[in-house]
Amino acid sequence: MSVTDSNISKIHSKTDVHLIQRKVSFDYSETPLHWIPDDPYSSHFISVIHTILPAGEFFFCRLYNKALPYIEDEQLREDVKGFIKQEAMHARAHSAGLAEYLETHGLDTDAFVKKVEWIFEQPLSDKPFGKNLPKSLEKRWLVLRLGLIAAIEHFTCVLGKYALENKNWDQKDADETILDILRWHAAEEIEHRNVAFDVYKYMGGNYAGRAPQMALIFTGLIGLWTMGATHLMKQDPTIKKHKSRLIGRSFWKEWRHKAKKGNLPSLSWLAFQSARYLSPSYNPSTEADTQQAIDYLAHSPAAQRAEAVA
Ligand SMILES: [Fe+2]
Ligand SMILES: [Fe+2]
Repeated sequence: MSVTDSNISKIHSKTDVHLIQRKVSFDYSETPLHWIPDDPYSSHFISVIHTILPAGEFFFCRLYNKALPYIEDEQLREDVKGFIKQEAMHARAHSAGLAEYLETHGLDTDAFVKKVEWIFEQPLSDKPFGKNLPKSLEKRWLVLRLGLIAAIEHFTCVLGKYALENKNWDQKDADETILDILRWHAAEEIEHRNVAFDVYKYMGGNYAGRAPQMALIFTGLIGLWTMGATHLMKQDPTIKKHKSRLIGRSFWKEWRHKAKKGNLPSLSWLAFQSARYLSPSYNPSTEADTQQAIDYLAHSPAAQRAEAVA
């Protein structure tokens, strides 16, 4: 199968495929806690993604449903509907079974998940901290939050590309089910990488807003990632001896060490990716290749099961 549907309008939409929801499911019953063998640090560092994403992606769905009535371009409306369906499935796939998987191995995720949910339900909600906004500010508040999501979606795209291309995980015999959920999600992030940016521009989002939005997202992402990873690591009895040093300098040193070994993206790589979003000529289309995503989905065990059921 190849990309590019010639019937897709290019006026406001830069998406080159019809976005569909794939109803996937995963079985973690055989998945070890350290799903990258002999590397608890990197395993937890990536596992924390499962605890951050659901609250964020359900928030995306709510916000894009709010944006839909403002969008008159038919193709962009179709993209947004497909985007919402894909993000809802991502959120469900990451929450279903994964909390149970981590709990089975003695790790509690509730306390951290509640902190993540608070961010989307309080400061980022339609009524920030329960305060009603004046009617005149409602659309601006919506556009600002759509800008934040466009910045996040830049990360999900580049991290998606990273996950699809990191053969190091395969060489180290990383767990196939975890690799499949990461890469199925990665592939769909690449498929819909244009939608959030297209909507931001369509809704009047400007270039000036992108730098503060990315600064907030980059800081928030690193903060949440660090907090969530240390929350999991502190509970892991097999790395207990390092417990007291997990949040200190050794956390960052270990991150650099694992990134050098190819098991994790490095902090400097993430910073470089965030800077690319600030270019006036930034274009999500050129950040990844849709064909690479489609090629993965064509043999992803979960995506293939979903297709067979559909
Ligand atoms: Fe997603
Ligand atoms: Fe996404």
